[in-house]
Amino acid sequence: MDMSEESIVQIAQSLIHEQAMVQFQGEAVGAIAAIPKPSQAVQPDLNYGEIFIRDNVPVMVYFLMQGKAEVVRHFLQTCLSLQSQQFETRGIFPTSFVETNGQVVADYGQRAIGRVVSADATLWWAILAHMYVRRTGDRAFALQHQVQVGLQCFLDLILRPSFRGVPTLYVPDGAFMIDRPLDVWGTPLEIQVLLYGSLLSAASLIQMDLVNKGYLNPKSKIQNPKSPDPFTQNQINQFHLSLDWAKRLRRYLLKNYWVMSKTVQVLRRRPTEQYGDAIENEYNIQTETIPHWLQDWLGDRGGYLIGNIRTGRPDFRFFTMGNCLGAIFDVISFRQQQALFRLILQNQQDLIAEMPMRICHPPLSDEDWRKKTGYDRKNLPWCYHNAGHWPCLFWFLVVAVLRHQHHHQRQDRQLMIEMNGLLEDAYQLLLKQLPRQHWAEYFDGPIGNWMGQQARVYQTWTIVGFLLVHHLLKVNRSDAQILDVPSIQSLL
Ligand code: GLC
Repeated sequence: MDMSEESIVQIAQSLIHEQAMVQFQGEAVGAIAAIPKPSQAVQPDLNYGEIFIRDNVPVMVYFLMQGKAEVVRHFLQTCLSLQSQQFETRGIFPTSFVETNGQVVADYGQRAIGRVVSADATLWWAILAHMYVRRTGDRAFALQHQVQVGLQCFLDLILRPSFRGVPTLYVPDGAFMIDRPLDVWGTPLEIQVLLYGSLLSAASLIQMDLVNKGYLNPKSKIQNPKSPDPFTQNQINQFHLSLDWAKRLRRYLLKNYWVMSKTVQVLRRRPTEQYGDAIENEYNIQTETIPHWLQDWLGDRGGYLIGNIRTGRPDFRFFTMGNCLGAIFDVISFRQQQALFRLILQNQQDLIAEMPMRICHPPLSDEDWRKKTGYDRKNLPWCYHNAGHWPCLFWFLVVAVLRHQHHHQRQDRQLMIEMNGLLEDAYQLLLKQLPRQHWAEYFDGPIGNWMGQQARVYQTWTIVGFLLVHHLLKVNRSDAQILDVPSIQSLL
């Protein structure tokens, strides 16, 4: 007999509170990636027993919603104490950390498989810090000198000259949730939308300090003529630069990443081999790079942000997290969000199928898989990051839809009715499948109903992702506002 919804929620809650959280010196510091089965400890060569910053984002959001803000504060503070001070990596936050023999050991990529770097953890820290302050009103957290120093180190990594005069962040392959080779090097979408959210979050946290110190007038936000010390001067510069960067980044993403049926028709007919200033095809993209599946997939009124833009080699794959965050952070406009929801509705057989949601679509296969992943055994077509299904992604879609609905209640009711239907059906799939499949990390196959070949079970972000969906759909829909980042206008 199937378990009741209530008992599934209770089981999930007790797994998080009683088994996933790690205590260090008497305080909870974060959750491990996967809960080991009682009989079988996590193999020492795998890092699922570590505390990953990215896996803890949903955990911390859930704690904030449950009013357990002190855990979040402590997590943020612990991560801050691990921000790299090494010359080569100064300012980055670790991918994960673990307690061994009374010491916290952090992994900045130097211990990871393939030595992959992760850029998302650093970007998430600023977003989570802002979310915490906004939700709790604990401005004292933001005003701490060490927090402002941490923000400054983080912004030093981004707001600096480079060989490329564009506002995107350039990263190696596998620098985010997709942390194995999958041809996601350069300027992958997920990193760019996180960058947008983190620039605005950081700017807002700096602004609080500048207002508090009397360098900005809280009402008019006009700079006071008081002469600032060098640290404050840097804060003022970074504040303005961040806003300007975010503005340019948004414009850039909308111009180069957003596609709809109409825009593809324009792309296909553009001239190539142009150079100089006033040109149409800046990245010299040939028509042949535009895949045939795109026509049907976009339909008449669907739209989304493509995976990456690179000279001659755009990546038209659909990435779920980047698109949901693009909506949540308002990188895409209200109308574009509707187009995104339409696209998801009409392609739910691909993106949801038997397990919400597919991480990216379509998979790399054949020669592409061999060449671009380097024969990666875990990222076989339809597996793991290569178009596998990850239940931990679904709550992002729930947040995107509910906050959209909240802000634009009277618009396109039919679309919202259909989207709410999709959310409810997908929630029922989670309820039915997750306890049966032991809260697996991911699912394989074109419809996502096989437990991932190498999936961990009792994966923390699967469990907490389910709890977030339950909370948002059944307990408090207005909590979907929690991920909002400040708008550029509100910071001006
Ligand atoms: C895998 C995932 C990564 C996750 C980690 C811990 O490496 O690819 O996104 O953070 O497991 O769950």
